[in-house]
Amino acid sequence: MSSNRSQDELGKLNGRVAIITGSSSGMGRAIALALAEEGASIVCADLQPEASPKGYEIYKHIPTHELISLSGGRAVFQKCDLGKTEEIVRLVQLAVETYGKLDILVNNAGLWVPLRPFVEETDEIWRSMLNINTRGPATAMREAIKQFLRQPVTDSGSRGRIVNISSSAGITAIAGETAYAASKAALSMLTRNAALDHAKDSINVNAVCPGVVRTALSSTNFNDDSIITEMRKSTPWPRLGEPRDIARMVLFLCSDDAQWMTGQNIAIDGGFTVGIPL
Ligand SMILES: NC(=O)c1ccc[n+]([C@@H]2O[C@H](COP(=O)([O-])OP(=O)(O)OC[C@H]3O[C@@H](n4cnc5c(N)ncnc54)[C@H](O)[C@@H]3O)[C@@H](O)[C@H]2O)c1
Repeated sequence: MSSNRSQDELGKLNGRVAIITGSSSGMGRAIALALAEEGASIVCADLQPEASPKGYEIYKHIPTHELISLSGGRAVFQKCDLGKTEEIVRLVQLAVETYGKLDILVNNAGLWVPLRPFVEETDEIWRSMLNINTRGPATAMREAIKQFLRQPVTDSGSRGRIVNISSSAGITAIAGETAYAASKAALSMLTRNAALDHAKDSINVNAVCPGVVRTALSSTNFNDDSIITEMRKSTPWPRLGEPRDIARMVLFLCSDDAQWMTGQNIAIDGGFTVGIPL
C-alpha cells in the first residue's frame, strides 16, 4: 500500500467504516488495502491475522491491519470464523464499538477444494462449502443490515453497502467444482434477493464474480503448469487475474459513484464467462 495522498486531500471513502472478511490474504488483503488508501477505517476479519504462506502477496510477513497502520491508515484485526454465528455478531459489534458505525461489509472469505468429479465429493465438502461460502456471508449480511438500519441515509445517498465476493464458477459450470459452484451461485442469488428486499432502505448489495486470480486459495492450480495452460486457454484476456483487479471493482462498488447500483453480479474475469475462446 502506498499512501501518497496529501494530508488535506480526501479519499473517496474518507470517514467510512468497512469490515472485510478473509482480509489476511489474497483478494481480501488487496481490498482492505485499497479501501484504506481511500480513507476508510478497516476492521480486518479472518481466522488469523497472518497471511497464508501459500500466497503471493508482497510484505507477506506483515499482517494486513499492521500494513495499513504503517501506511498512515486506520485498521484493527478481529478474529472471526465465518462458520460461527457468535463470532460474526461480535465482529459487527466490534466495528461499531471501535469506529462508532458501519458503512461497508465486504463478504470476501471463502473456501475452495482442489478439482474433483462430482461423484467424489463428500457430505463434509458440501457442509463446509455451504457453511463458509453461503450461510456465513448471509449471517454477516443480516448483522450488517441490522446495523445499517439503525443509521441514517448519509450524504452519499446510501445507508450502507455490501459487496459479496462470489465467483465466475457461480455463472459458468467448470468441471470438478460442483459444490463450490453451487455455494457461489447461491451467494450470487442471495445478493439479488437481499438487494431487492433492502433497496427501499437505501442499502446497496452487489457481488463481484472473479475469474482465475493468483492467490493462496488457487495456489494448487498456479503450481501446476498443465492447469495454468488450461486456465490461460479459458481466459480470453492475455493474462490471468491478480487480487488488485478485484479490489478496484470492490472500491468502485463501495464508492458514491455506484450509488444507484444494486443487486448486480459483476464478472471480473478477463472474459472467462463471455464464451469459448479460439
Ligand atoms: N482465487 C480465485 O481464483 C478465486 C476465483 C473466484 C472467487 N474467489 C473467491 O475469492 C474470495 C477470496 O479468496 P482468495 O482467492 O483471495 O483466497 P485466499 O486463500 O488468498 O484468502 C482467503 C482468506 O479467507 C480466510 N478464511 C478462510 N476460511 C475462513 C473462515 N471460515 N472464516 C474467516 N476467514 C476465512 C483465509 O484465512 C484467507 O485469509 C473467496 O471467497 C473465493 O472463493 C477466488
